[in-house]
Amino acid sequence: MCGIIGVTGNKRSVSILINGLKRLEYRGYDSAGIYVNDMNGHDYLIKRKGRISNLEAAINDNVNGMSGIGHTRWATHGEPNEVNAHPQYSADERFYLVHNGVIENFKQLKQEYLQDVHFKSQTDTEVVVQLVDRFVTKYQMDTKTALLKVLRLINPDSSYAFAMMDREQADTIYVAKNKSPLLIGLADGYNMVGSDAMSMIDETNKFMEIDDHELVIVKPDHVSIESFDSNEKHRKPFTVDMDASATDKGPYPFYMLKEIDEQSSVMRKLVQHYLPDGDPVIDDDLLAAMMKADHLYIIGAGTSYHAGLAGQRIFEALTGIHTSVHISSEFAYEHPLLSEHPFFIFLSQSGETADSREVLVQVNKHKWPSLTITNVDKSTLSREADYTLLIDAGPEIAVASTKAYTAQIAVEAILAKALGQKKEISAAEKFPLKSELSNIANGIQAITDGKDKIAAIAAHYLAKPRNAFYIGRGVDWSVALEAALKLKEISYVQSEGFASGELKHGTIALIENHTPVIGIITQDRTAGLTRSNLEETQSRGAAILTIVSRHLSMDDDTIIIPDVNELLTPLISIVPAQLLAYYTSLGKGLDVDKPRNLAKSVTVQ
Ligand code: G6P
Repeated sequence: MCGIIGVTGNKRSVSILINGLKRLEYRGYDSAGIYVNDMNGHDYLIKRKGRISNLEAAINDNVNGMSGIGHTRWATHGEPNEVNAHPQYSADERFYLVHNGVIENFKQLKQEYLQDVHFKSQTDTEVVVQLVDRFVTKYQMDTKTALLKVLRLINPDSSYAFAMMDREQADTIYVAKNKSPLLIGLADGYNMVGSDAMSMIDETNKFMEIDDHELVIVKPDHVSIESFDSNEKHRKPFTVDMDASATDKGPYPFYMLKEIDEQSSVMRKLVQHYLPDGDPVIDDDLLAAMMKADHLYIIGAGTSYHAGLAGQRIFEALTGIHTSVHISSEFAYEHPLLSEHPFFIFLSQSGETADSREVLVQVNKHKWPSLTITNVDKSTLSREADYTLLIDAGPEIAVASTKAYTAQIAVEAILAKALGQKKEISAAEKFPLKSELSNIANGIQAITDGKDKIAAIAAHYLAKPRNAFYIGRGVDWSVALEAALKLKEISYVQSEGFASGELKHGTIALIENHTPVIGIITQDRTAGLTRSNLEETQSRGAAILTIVSRHLSMDDDTIIIPDVNELLTPLISIVPAQLLAYYTSLGKGLDVDKPRNLAKSVTVQ
């Protein structure tokens, strides 16, 4: 949450910052700002409430600089307005700071050191920049010493990624991090800092990692790294192959629709990557580590947690290893009694989710083996886990996750088959995953080709109601959870995913005339039961809709989806639900890609 960008040594710094901020807008979009300095005695601070486009409109041709920092905000402390937007700055307007994260002890720091300072904003960030200024002006420290002192005073539980400028050293950006993501970008004749590689990819593909508790000093021709206890560090840069054009929206009105449509090609790509000859191509070391496990713990948040629920039964069916799925923000603070030989699988589209990373930090402390399944190579969770598998989905820009969900499930299935085969489990050996995934790719395409019909269903049933329910049993229930999340996050219809048999134990009281209840029916064992549960709601006035596998379909079903192997139905049954959410949001005239109050990458706990 919150995006940071900085550049030093380039006269295009304003456009570099704005371009970077646009690429980071998925991280938060309630306000934005830049500070630029022309290294010739002129500097500019511009901040605006709302989207980057508002900030861009406020920048006139006179504003230019050789160095600068920028920020797009997802508010934690203080409402989203211009004053609380970053950069925050010191009372004497010498120091400028952008921050992503939360300073846990900011009130104590304010109380102890800054009682006489007038604060403009309600942010925790302003305390940090005022404190640097206090140490420089009152105690005559140089800027680096003052910043190091402040960094040591910040409670270690705090999360931060900082980029700070001192107008008296306009070519220098001071950078530090703890828990929140931040990368250095090395360009030709100038250097950068950014929350992710994508924010700098138009300028460079050469990056350098920053570890927690390091201070990095970025100058146009030099980058130095030291630990908070002043030990110099040397680090090799790495390159990232990323196709910047993959983030173009093309002819689509919103990224979400593009990303829903891309799911069939992502399935085909995964087949080529991991199953070229039918047998999964998976790192032997990873499989050897997993062979020792007596329990797989899948950890994730939001949609990734839901992808874990779908993966759980695939792992159990194909590997015979007991598998459980956990919400990372819960597991980090209260987990079940663990087995003797746990193996941890982190699911994270971004690879940056703070709650999931908190679990990984604890896992690493115990030296338990771990794997991250992610869309972003070299992301924090990828770097810090023992192994990484990439989901090859291409950049996902819409806040509501779609193609990452299906790609995560497909990679779980590939891994489960690989491990099951190694364990000589016949269910895994016989499982025709390559042909199933190819079949699914075609099935997804057939559904997305029929999107007009789904748009009409959304307009008819979902445009007006305040509440809606998705119901299902077993794996259909796990898809119901994801389907309801899609609908609520982008259309603001209060929607719940429910175990269909559980509805009558209380929640059915919420059913009113025309409340939409959407049944997901893909499993032979439970199809009849879910249909009965739908009828129970219909008797109480609900408008019932169905998403049904072809071989289980009946005359008056609403959306019929192609038949696929029962273990893999989430890959296909979710697609109509994604489209229903999309068209409901579109019909209400909402910003589908940037729903209110949300951010795509949640880097605070
Ligand atoms: C945010 C996003 C969700 C995502 C969740 C977990 O809430 O809006 O779409 O599912 O974070 O993110 P991750 O990157 O770890 O999958």
